[in-house]
Amino acid sequence: MRREVKGLILAGGRGTRLRPLTHTSAKQLVPVANKPVLFYGIESLAEAGITEIGIIIAPETGGEIRAAVGDGGRFGISVTYIEQDAPLGLAHAVLTAERFLADAPFVMYLGDNLLRDGIVELVDRFRTEQSDALILLTPVPDPENYGVAELEDGRIVSLTEKPEEPRTDLALVGVYMFTHAVFDAARAIEPSGRGELEITDAIQRLVDSGLSVDPHVVTGWWKDTGQVQDMLDANQLILDDLSPRMEGELIDSRAEGRVAIDPDVVLERSTVRGPVIIGRGARVTDAYIGPYTAVGEDVTIQRAELEHSIVLAGSSIRDLEGRIEASLIGRNVSLSRSPALPRAYRFVLGDNAEIAIL
Ligand code: DAU
Repeated sequence: MRREVKGLILAGGRGTRLRPLTHTSAKQLVPVANKPVLFYGIESLAEAGITEIGIIIAPETGGEIRAAVGDGGRFGISVTYIEQDAPLGLAHAVLTAERFLADAPFVMYLGDNLLRDGIVELVDRFRTEQSDALILLTPVPDPENYGVAELEDGRIVSLTEKPEEPRTDLALVGVYMFTHAVFDAARAIEPSGRGELEITDAIQRLVDSGLSVDPHVVTGWWKDTGQVQDMLDANQLILDDLSPRMEGELIDSRAEGRVAIDPDVVLERSTVRGPVIIGRGARVTDAYIGPYTAVGEDVTIQRAELEHSIVLAGSSIRDLEGRIEASLIGRNVSLSRSPALPRAYRFVLGDNAEIAIL
């Protein structure tokens, strides 16, 4: 028997680790290879044949997420927005969605996670097998930053959220499959040290109650894009699979390697060395754009060099002597050399901004 499966995407929370970008906007909308992280998760659920999807949103950033995703029609899904009053944890988010999910088994997808190989086969396995939950695990070099699983003979022995001394290197990936048994488990647990109802504790509860939790170790890459370096890594991994296209205009310019250039882009006296993606309306003049760079819509780059970076829509970068590298530049940022005297650095920077000068 095949079970009808719903989707639940978590796009609430605070996004503190991506500040200042996320002071005003949702971290799940920060683009990776010019597409919001959240869209990869939605597409992955849609690809697995899930069409009824609830999206958890926070009061502060929910409007922006609604505007970006709409009713889900363009992804071939139907979206129900569920507001979570405060970011009280992943298990709290699940409880907030109880009415929407009702008795249906569901896939919960953390809105800031990226999984290369998708979840089609795993969702099929969960549809046909009668397990109470299925979790995804993958070895990581820094397990203390994740939920960590201990397995014995392929079965789960323990699950611990961000342990100081992890017993294994197997991290919980932010994609989970549950039946309605998870609601009772989420109600039974207490808030953790960080004051959240942890989904990791709820799953441990399922295991302790003798329910079947099926662990699956994923082999393709996985990224939690919660921090700047993760964002840059994810950008690199996605750009590695980029399909080239050339819809803009090249004037005395060269585009080498895998390069995707959107309509209304003009490159003048510039070199682009892929993998690189350049969004609609960007202007690149007397500039160099090197590997693993995503340039957003309507960005201007003039007499500057840029590599291994993400530049969000509407920003401009002009007349810099040194090359910009491994940088994440927000929306409508202006970065330029000013001829005005006295010669001085002049900054208007958001909280927690990071600047490294040559
Ligand atoms: O990425 C995998 C990790 O995700 C797991 O290994 C951990 O076990 C799990 O607890 C989780 O850890 P994080 O600390 O990275 O979770 P974060 O607070 O970043 O939240 C993940 C997503 O869920 C993010 O898109 C924000 C959203 N969220 C978060 C909370 C706490 C909500 O929608 N509501 C919430 O209350």
